[in-house]
Amino acid sequence: MSDFVVVAKLEDVPENGMKSVVIDGTAIVLINREGTIFALEDRCSHEEFPLSTGDLVGGEVTCALHGARFDIETGAPRALPAVMPVRTYEVQIEGGEVRLDLG
Ligand code: FES
Repeated sequence: MSDFVVVAKLEDVPENGMKSVVIDGTAIVLINREGTIFALEDRCSHEEFPLSTGDLVGGEVTCALHGARFDIETGAPRALPAVMPVRTYEVQIEGGEVRLDLG
């Protein structure tokens, strides 16, 4: 079941940058790639380091701690040492607000 919740203003997610938000105790990183917003759990699947402190290169985010990379669209790991995906969230943009399906 869809359960979209407003988590940020679109203008607060910088183009080709990231913004971390905490929703109900869960850290989520919002990623703006050339105007398209993606959302992943802000916790590397290797040792739970926040991905929002890493680098965004193309369609991947690199964890700052040990260099694992994740696909920002699917959450799939693209480089060791991570082997498990990170959770992704469906995104809606409406009225200048970022909404995520937290269901
Ligand atoms: S905690 Fe992210 S690569 Fe190790």
